[in-house]
Amino acid sequence: MKSRLVRQKFLDFFRSRGHEIVPSAPMVIKDDATLMFTNAGMNQFKDIFLENAPVRHPRIADTQKCLRVSGKHNDLEEVGFDGYHHTMFEMLGNWSFGDYFKQEAIGWAWEFLTEEIGIERDRIYVTYFEGDPSESLESDLESLGFWKRWVEGDRILPGSKKDNFWEMGDSGPCGPCSEIHVDLRSEEERRNKDGRELVNKGDPLVIEIWNLVFIQYNRTADGNLTALPRKHVDTGMGFERLCMVVQGKTSNYDTDIFQPIIGAIASLSGRAYGSDDRGDVAMRVVADHLRSVAFAISDGQLPSNTKAGYVIRRILRRAVRYYYTYLGLDKPFMFKLMPALIESMGDVFPELVAQRATIERVIHEEEQSFLRTLAGGIKLLEQITADLRQKNEKTVSGKTAFELYDTFGFPLDLTELMLKDQGMNVDRAAFDREMEAQRERSRSATAVRTDDWVSVGPDQEEEAFVGYENTRAIVRMSRYRKVSGRDRELYHLVFNTTPFYPESGGQVGDTGYIDNGIERIPVINTFREHGLVIHVTERIPADVNLPFEAVVDRGLRMNTASNHTATHLLHQALREVLGRHVEQKGSLVNPDYLRFDFSHFRKMTDDEVRQVESAVNKKIREGLPRDEMRGVPVGEAIRQGAVALFGEKYGDRVRVIRFGDSVELCGGTHVDTTGQIGLFKILSEGSIASGIRRIEAITGEKAEAYCLQLESKMKLLEKLLNNPQNIVDAVESLLKEKSALEKKVEEFNRRSTESFRNELLRNRKQVGDLVLITGKPEGPVEDASLIRDVAFQIRNEVDNLYLVIGAVIHDKPHLAVMISEKVVREKKLHAGEIVKKASREFNGGGGGQPFFATAGGRSPENLSRAIDKAAEFAYLAATKKEG
Ligand code: SER
Repeated sequence: MKSRLVRQKFLDFFRSRGHEIVPSAPMVIKDDATLMFTNAGMNQFKDIFLENAPVRHPRIADTQKCLRVSGKHNDLEEVGFDGYHHTMFEMLGNWSFGDYFKQEAIGWAWEFLTEEIGIERDRIYVTYFEGDPSESLESDLESLGFWKRWVEGDRILPGSKKDNFWEMGDSGPCGPCSEIHVDLRSEEERRNKDGRELVNKGDPLVIEIWNLVFIQYNRTADGNLTALPRKHVDTGMGFERLCMVVQGKTSNYDTDIFQPIIGAIASLSGRAYGSDDRGDVAMRVVADHLRSVAFAISDGQLPSNTKAGYVIRRILRRAVRYYYTYLGLDKPFMFKLMPALIESMGDVFPELVAQRATIERVIHEEEQSFLRTLAGGIKLLEQITADLRQKNEKTVSGKTAFELYDTFGFPLDLTELMLKDQGMNVDRAAFDREMEAQRERSRSATAVRTDDWVSVGPDQEEEAFVGYENTRAIVRMSRYRKVSGRDRELYHLVFNTTPFYPESGGQVGDTGYIDNGIERIPVINTFREHGLVIHVTERIPADVNLPFEAVVDRGLRMNTASNHTATHLLHQALREVLGRHVEQKGSLVNPDYLRFDFSHFRKMTDDEVRQVESAVNKKIREGLPRDEMRGVPVGEAIRQGAVALFGEKYGDRVRVIRFGDSVELCGGTHVDTTGQIGLFKILSEGSIASGIRRIEAITGEKAEAYCLQLESKMKLLEKLLNNPQNIVDAVESLLKEKSALEKKVEEFNRRSTESFRNELLRNRKQVGDLVLITGKPEGPVEDASLIRDVAFQIRNEVDNLYLVIGAVIHDKPHLAVMISEKVVREKKLHAGEIVKKASREFNGGGGGQPFFATAGGRSPENLSRAIDKAAEFAYLAATKKEG
């Protein structure tokens, strides 16, 4: 049975049992501070479990792209070494929100596996939660009872909190769970050892495939469990593992999900899969990581140096390390695997097909730049092992291994593998300490403590957003909590209704204030979390029960709206001018400016930028009215041509914003007519990653201010240039004149240097065995380099030289003394000492080497005295005998 069919059977099975089939949510999470990536199918329903969002369908089923590479669920380091761990995987799930519970969930799981898919009954083992006295949790005898209807007692096992109590993270919805394991060993092995003994023991052939979670509790920030008002079902089945079982394989990588990719790796690397252990590990690593990286990019998460982007970068680098070391590939090649990935998953996840070019470019560039870094890391490792050998040691310090990991992206397992070849190892405990220290550093850098919510008064309806129509509303507080950061405390307030727009879709949150007639409290930001609109303040009101007037800063809101609408017009204009391949890759809309990232493969020409800018301004002048539709079914909106963004999570009903030809799914706030934007001005266009460009632009008052500033600069220039007819011509001729003058000055300097030199040579005097020359240039001297240059020229022409030059430069006296090296030696003279003494005459000081020194001073009228003083030393020396 092909994997496609397996997936379809699952969805059909639950559809026919009253479940609504929903699409996978994005794998990259954008609005949850507690989670970077979807790590379970239930993430997208967290709001429903917490009762912050309404239940639209009490029964749902889907396949969800998950990534387990950080936080509570992290499998990254396992990947490659066995056949069933993955970073990215698909999770098949069925949910009940306050509808059916254990009995149906267990019965259907059994029916699906044994009847629909046909897994042999006696290969299946199930577990149930044995209870945990420390948390006063009782044994899940209910599940045990339901399982007994289907499974013989000796294949039902009790399990501890670690295996049988499922939690998404440190806080959130959770509950006891019941796991389904399958024993894939041969008959003979099964006879020799009872499968019971291998459940949850890490045996690669006795593995968990499905987890049925019975969500009953919420784990609060203080670590306590509180019962949820209603009970829910959350099941998650590893799709790749299920396919392995169905297809009779012993590794997920042998199924038709991975085979096209493994095949492509084999042919590009010229090696067969299954021929050598390390090569196989590398192939599995590459195949797995390719999926994670490609899906993350298609969700809009580019590799970067922070947060989610950094995690993706590390995954990709891990793959590069493996193929470089064990497949002998030293050129980018992962990007060439996209057709194979599309072959296996493109029909179910069309984002891969639509964004193929972008994904390929980004992966290619990342591979290329990391391969360069890698060379440095390998050199370092070679050096380290050579040093150790010399010292007769075998263990690389934790610090060094950590540096390799942190700076060069060498995962520990790989460093260890490379060292093993040479009979060496890593001080693992010390490495772990370094890792922990780094975790601690980043924890304390961002440490925030979020207290649990405090409810205010009776249950209030929450999150009726009225901000599209109004910027003020009378509101009541329904809950609040305190958030303590490193250096300040903030409060999160939730109201029954609000005019404040919470940050989303690139548009920043509204600011403003709340006022109850007694006190006024500024709202410094607004954002959304799990279906709640959270207003951030620096204090809570004395009386939280009074009604407030909530008032949004209208001016800022208008500017933001103007920038948001302009972003839509810009998107549309880019698609018209550059082509339909332009896809939005990110945007920021705030009151000051807008930033728009999009896919396009070369720099925009000046002409293209101008065309786009005028296309937008044309739409502004047309005064197009906003045409807004709410509650449109998402499929309907897309059929009408609305632009939906990949990686964005849309509800089943969406808001559609149209301004002329621009139609987008969007929850943001917009102007009433494009005319209100006034003016649109692009400030810059540049690259942020391979194939991704960024435009920054301004609108309205900011654009006007920008133009006024340009104008006043221009006026000032015109004034400085005496109001010429054509300012560009005037500047050009000025530049020409300037360069002609520079040439003249150069020529003049050359000549005056020459004439000064000649004059000095004419001034030479024989004093004993020395040739004494003294002099001052005629006319003004611009800088001291003249006397220096002349002194060095004369040194080359006159033997036994004793040269003293004085000059007044910008009203300051200067003195230079140059003495032939031979004279210095024979007469024990030191030009530095001489200028020091002589410069006292003009109130100055200086110094230098024995053969050449300079000095400056304050009394130019005494320059001649200083020259004479310096010359005196020549007379004294001339009469002195050698030695
Ligand atoms: N949430 C559970 C899991 O991820 C079941 O979906 O395993």
